[in-house]
Amino acid sequence: MEDNSKFKRLLVTGGAGFIGSEYVRSSLSGTLYGGKPEKITVVDSLTYAGNKKRLSEVWDNKEFAFVQADVRDQGVISELIDAHDVVIHFAAESHVDRSIENSQDFIETNVLGTHRVLHAAREFNKTVVLISTDEVYGSINEGAANEQTILNPSSPYSASKASADLLALSFVTTYGLDVRVTRCVNNYGKYQDLEKLIPKIVHNLRSGLKIPLYGTGLNVRDWIHTKDHCDAIARVLHIGAPGEIYNIGGDESYSNIELAYILLSYFNLEKDQIEFVQDRLGHDMRYAVDSSKIKSQLDWKPRHRLTDSISEIEKGIVFLS
Ligand SMILES: NC(=O)c1ccc[n+]([C@@H]2O[C@H](COP(=O)([O-])OP(=O)(O)OC[C@H]3O[C@@H](n4cnc5c(N)ncnc54)[C@H](O)[C@@H]3O)[C@@H](O)[C@H]2O)c1
Repeated sequence: MEDNSKFKRLLVTGGAGFIGSEYVRSSLSGTLYGGKPEKITVVDSLTYAGNKKRLSEVWDNKEFAFVQADVRDQGVISELIDAHDVVIHFAAESHVDRSIENSQDFIETNVLGTHRVLHAAREFNKTVVLISTDEVYGSINEGAANEQTILNPSSPYSASKASADLLALSFVTTYGLDVRVTRCVNNYGKYQDLEKLIPKIVHNLRSGLKIPLYGTGLNVRDWIHTKDHCDAIARVLHIGAPGEIYNIGGDESYSNIELAYILLSYFNLEKDQIEFVQDRLGHDMRYAVDSSKIKSQLDWKPRHRLTDSISEIEKGIVFLS
């Protein structure tokens, strides 16, 4: 494994969001693979999902800069990419339910925005780490998707992410651009938006409210701490190979009802707090990825467990509210 230390100046799109901000905080604390960067710039348009409070602990750090801009703004994004060694592209519309309501912004940001990032990276011959998702594989009824599994997205969100993912790979094949793609499972951790399942459940249980579960609650997801996801991204950046795809799993698969039981037990509450609601349209039954590639090639594994992280999630909700 070669430590590719040429990546000293990082541009992080969507760095005021849940996962991007964890990458910035962890990076500047020097705890990620590859150590502390010389410079890290966040570019974020601050949609409803972006919040500068997530970056408060690094705001005054001399290596940190923040630019409020849209990734679709080709002029700004090109200038920023030119001034950095690599772009880690997190910026996206990320909530499946919103994409079902109205998919326009998902196509605009996730597809067009990613194209603008790739176009600029090609212009200045810079490396891109594209943060894709396990949802591009669609529902996996048995076994686990590996990096060669055909993409079969179900929602407008996952279809827009699959489009971005395939566009990125086309820039590898057509132009020889150094793009690395990560496909990670569902994240939990500090400062996630309340519209997402785990913070919503934690918030409701703290507030004495029922917790809504879609359909039968039997849909299965694999869960990973954002710190483990970011550690994987840092390894892909520093010792990953150009043009490669890396699945990232958390080794913690639960049905939504099992997840609800874990959180109910943490708060010493009974199962009658659960309320089943009408199922999400096109709801994928099960996601599962095979992460043996990143484990064997980049010596990575998930280190956190959900049950140890619930109080941190709770504190994050209070801090952001
Ligand atoms: N959350 C998960 O469980 C998960 C799992 C796998 C992959 N991913 C991917 O990781 C990335 C980050 O997810 P997240 O959960 O942190 O999302 P998030 O919604 O919390 O954050 C997205 C950020 O992008 C910014 N943004 C949105 N549109 C923009 C635009 N046009 N220009 C500039 N900034 C823009 C928002 O302001 C926000 O700060 C996404 O690409 C998502 O698809 C997320």
